[in-house]
Amino acid sequence: MLDVSRVHNGTDRNVLSVALIGPHEQRRQAIAAALAERSAVRIEELAYYPSDFDHLSRLLEKHCSIVVLDADSDPDAALRLAEDVCSRGQMAVMAYSAEADVKLAIRFMRVGVSDFFTFPFDSAEIAEALRRSSQRESSLRQESRLSSKVCVFLGTKGGCGVTAIASNFAISLAQESGRNTLLIDLGLPLGDAAINLGITTEFSVANAIQDTNRLDTNFLNTLVTNHSSGLSVLAAPSDFRIDRQPDNEAINKLLLVARQSYEYVVVDIGSRLDLLGSALFEESSIIYLITQVGISELRNANRMISQFFSRRSDNLQIVLNRYKPATLLFDDKHIEKALTRPTDWKIPDDWTSARRTQNTATPMALADAPISQAIRQMARTACGLPADREEKKGLFSFFR
Ligand SMILES: Nc1ncnc2c1ncn2[C@@H]1O[C@H](COP(=O)(O)OP(=O)(O)OP(=O)(O)O)[C@@H](O)[C@H]1O
Ligand SMILES: [Mg+2]
Repeated sequence: MLDVSRVHNGTDRNVLSVALIGPHEQRRQAIAAALAERSAVRIEELAYYPSDFDHLSRLLEKHCSIVVLDADSDPDAALRLAEDVCSRGQMAVMAYSAEADVKLAIRFMRVGVSDFFTFPFDSAEIAEALRRSSQRESSLRQESRLSSKVCVFLGTKGGCGVTAIASNFAISLAQESGRNTLLIDLGLPLGDAAINLGITTEFSVANAIQDTNRLDTNFLNTLVTNHSSGLSVLAAPSDFRIDRQPDNEAINKLLLVARQSYEYVVVDIGSRLDLLGSALFEESSIIYLITQVGISELRNANRMISQFFSRRSDNLQIVLNRYKPATLLFDDKHIEKALTRPTDWKIPDDWTSARRTQNTATPMALADAPISQAIRQMARTACGLPADREEKKGLFSFFR
């Protein structure tokens, strides 16, 4: 029943995306023409009212930031839909009518519709409404970008400890910052962050990205598993056969939605360099490059730093895992030379803790071990706290 889907005026990424819902064909054509006359818009037209926001999201080919509704064909259905879409806060809603019926306009405005157009449509008035809506959207986007922080963990070679560090860092970050923190496991297929955290998960990244039109903050909340530390986890799929591989477009949408709900988003990407073009690597993200003292790991680190990250300063953090001060192969000077810069963090080789995690399914971050202390320092620094916790002094002195 989705009959017409056309793109008017421009194919650029910055065009506004509008879902135009109007059973009355002629009026729909008229408003489509007015929408496209002065603005760069991409319009997806629907010839009937979807039952609610979720239904609409499933019907749309791409995410639309604005919904424009025919208020006349079935005012009650239009109003119900307008109310549901407005309550989700993901799309601006506008309505149009053949008549200048003030009572009808007020009913729509009361549920949150921002603009009500009447026939004959004034393209200048419509362009102004679209401009205001796009401004609101970009400031919302900016706000969510400003307030949330993305920490991406990338390895220089498989097995160098990305998951162990990312998952324990995420727990420490949730605990130390006291803020909403989400760990996303993109170490596909079969990432094992959940195993490191000792949790079983029902849903995964595969559910989040199989239909990105449907992905919003509510849906994401139903997919995450909560760890007892307060950390939320979006696990990797537990099956090799997933419908959609997470390409950059899907990752970008997932990250955008995650940032709307969480103040910290920690992402384990394993050694996936194919995601370099995604929003994960925006300037504002902190990239934790995990390497260790081995010839190929240091050589890979050197290449990755010089080829991809040479312009990053504080937002690239070099983490040397399984560090033993008296390693026979390289001393600190050689390591620094190979990495072209000093390491930011050294995580000790802590076989006992790693083994304990495997045996007890208790994350290392929750134990008082050398590895957890080092990871906690990283997490505290990431949330703006001094690296070491200050010991409380003077408490209980009356009882001495
Ligand atoms: N500092 C460390 N000390 C001791 N053991 C460690 C340390 N870091 C990681 N390990 C252990 O090494 C193994 C591999 O680590 P992990 O799974 O985190 O690597 P990875 O980079 O995520 O691997 P993959 O490429 O398979 O995703 C795990 O058993 C983990 O517990
Ligand atoms: Mg891993």
